[in-house]
Amino acid sequence: MKHFINLKDIPAKDLRKIIIDAKKRKSLRKKLSTLEVDKGAPLKGKLLIQMFEKSSLRTRLSFHLAIKQLGGGTLTLRSNELHLGQGGESIADTAKILSTYGDGFMLRTDSDKKVENFEKYLSIPVINGLSPSSHPTQVLSDVFTVEEIMKKPISNLNICWIGDSNNVLASLIAASVKFSFKLSIGCPKKFEPRKGVRAWVKKNNKKIYIYNDAKKAVSNADVIFSDKVISLNDKVNKKKKIKSFKNFKIDKKLMSYAKKSCIFLHCLPRGDEVSDDVFLGKKSHVWQQALNRVHVQKSILLYCFGKLR
Ligand code: CP
Ligand code: NVA
Repeated sequence: MKHFINLKDIPAKDLRKIIIDAKKRKSLRKKLSTLEVDKGAPLKGKLLIQMFEKSSLRTRLSFHLAIKQLGGGTLTLRSNELHLGQGGESIADTAKILSTYGDGFMLRTDSDKKVENFEKYLSIPVINGLSPSSHPTQVLSDVFTVEEIMKKPISNLNICWIGDSNNVLASLIAASVKFSFKLSIGCPKKFEPRKGVRAWVKKNNKKIYIYNDAKKAVSNADVIFSDKVISLNDKVNKKKKIKSFKNFKIDKKLMSYAKKSCIFLHCLPRGDEVSDDVFLGKKSHVWQQALNRVHVQKSILLYCFGKLR
């Protein structure tokens, strides 16, 4: 049994194994319809319980399909429907019950501490489906998408992030260390990655490149990633924060400073950080990116259940 909580804590070779498995499984599904089960039904009889404390469209649907396609099933809970969410039951007791009824637990929460506590008390694998400091399933799937589209190992590509130093970027930074790719970040000075994140990169003998000028950040990029400036439950002055990012909007002009072949990716949902013509244009692969979450999460589930071939 393995947890999937933060990319930085997972060995690089395991992350690569997950991507290789996802690639094989995706190609084998070409003729299968949505709910048809993969050959061998490797997670037959297994129940994944998903719990959401924040909104989600893609993560909940992609995990639902992922476990179904592996032969298992899923149950989706909102924490406010449980005693836990009303303050009427402890994490320890909730975790005990989840471990009794289910085989795996996927949690989207507004508290990193809660993920840690569930990890402590569950005796089944826990998957982080987004926390304030991490969105690991998204980013591993994004590495898969980049390699699928560019047909090259990500280590040979220049990756750029334009946007806030949020959970998605934290996982992308962890991925840049694990997969050894060059990562340039474009954001206002006030929204640069935290010291702790930068220190971790340094400790691992790697480097990230931070620019407070969007044009410099995208220069020579093969891939530009972005995300909403305001994250779910972001407790900031929203108007002020959005204003700080006014020179970081991804439009055709900004894209023209990157390589000609540069692609655009975004985890979704989107805000005003990207123009419609880029988001819906030829360089954008956001729909393929969203779909790939199903494929990669299947291999993440197999990894957690100790069934990765
Ligand atoms: N990208 C992503 O995690 O989307 P949801 O918030 O809709 O799950
Ligand atoms: N950074 C965003 C990602 C949403 C998928 C958030 O936390 O809201």
